[in-house]
Amino acid sequence: MDNPPPTPIVDVQVDAADVEAALRGDVRDGLTAQPKDLPPKWFYDHAGSVLFDEITRLEEYYPTRAERQILLRESDAVIEIVGADTFVELGAGTSDKTRALLDSAVAHGHLQRFIPFDVSETFLRDSCNKLAQEYPSLTIHGVAGDFDRHIPLIPSGGRRLVAMLGGTIGNYAPVARAHFLDTLAATMHTGDHLLLGTDLVKDRSRLVDAYDDASGVTAAFNKNVLAVINGHLGADFDLQRFDHVARWDDQAEWIEMHLRSQESHNVLIPSLGLDIGFEEGETIRTEISAKFRQDGVERELASAGLEMVAWYTDDDGDFGVSLSRR
Ligand code: SAH
Ligand code: TRP
Repeated sequence: MDNPPPTPIVDVQVDAADVEAALRGDVRDGLTAQPKDLPPKWFYDHAGSVLFDEITRLEEYYPTRAERQILLRESDAVIEIVGADTFVELGAGTSDKTRALLDSAVAHGHLQRFIPFDVSETFLRDSCNKLAQEYPSLTIHGVAGDFDRHIPLIPSGGRRLVAMLGGTIGNYAPVARAHFLDTLAATMHTGDHLLLGTDLVKDRSRLVDAYDDASGVTAAFNKNVLAVINGHLGADFDLQRFDHVARWDDQAEWIEMHLRSQESHNVLIPSLGLDIGFEEGETIRTEISAKFRQDGVERELASAGLEMVAWYTDDDGDFGVSLSRR
């Protein structure tokens, strides 16, 4: 006999009107600035989330493999330390690697609730439906929200483990990152834990290849932000007139992703009344992906009032996962 699958809850903090207003503001500010930039959250409409999932399986994109190795190896130890009844995942995506932690937590017996939080609503819904089927003993409570506005609205209560995996924290520049960690730590209670995945500084060529793969998936992902702006704001970006660029900044120790205009041309965004000029070779910075060292991670966590209690790396020392405690 088939039982009906348990129904997950999905709270939506980002409705369509809200998303549109936020996008309008970010596009107006970012594309009228000098140099031009756009915040990375706009990559992740449904198509963008599917492309990102493809990135995680690329040969060049080592972070997913490295972090998976760490989680498979250490999940029992992590769960033993945290003993949580509520597990929140920020920027959950498919929660694929997270299943190692969920499996350990379910086996351990204390976990009751899993709260995946992500800006990509339709993708989150699909993921919640799958998780509800796979983990019938858990309450799956998705939250479609934006890190920058909705962290305080995550359902409270219980002893919590909060995870942010995939190096997503590195997509914030240092000042914004400190602010994000302060906001997050303020929602945690004494004894709650944060499990944070951070990609580590390494050889330039491996870093650049991870963000500029031979098959062009990362390029398509980067250009998707222009398709999102076309779709929501009626802009006439021609994706073919832009090239994907990934650069390693040695001083800042981050990868920068840009879209570079091949020629001088203008782009109209009628719903914003904007006519944006691009010079030949001019770029839009679409993302940074900061790379870390253990002492830096420890210092940044401490500034937010979080004490590092464990640091795990993969065999090759490519990726770090820290466990810290409020
Ligand atoms: N945790 C997964 C996915 C990482 S990609 C992994 O490790 O592979 C980053 C994820 O964060 C995406 O799922 C994206 O939709 C989400 N995201 C990006 N910016 C966000 C924001 N501002 N608020 C909430 N989620 C965001
Ligand atoms: N959090 C991921 C990272 O920094 C996001 C990402 C991977 C990404 N590849 C990308 C963002 C390419 C933009 C373009 O590794």
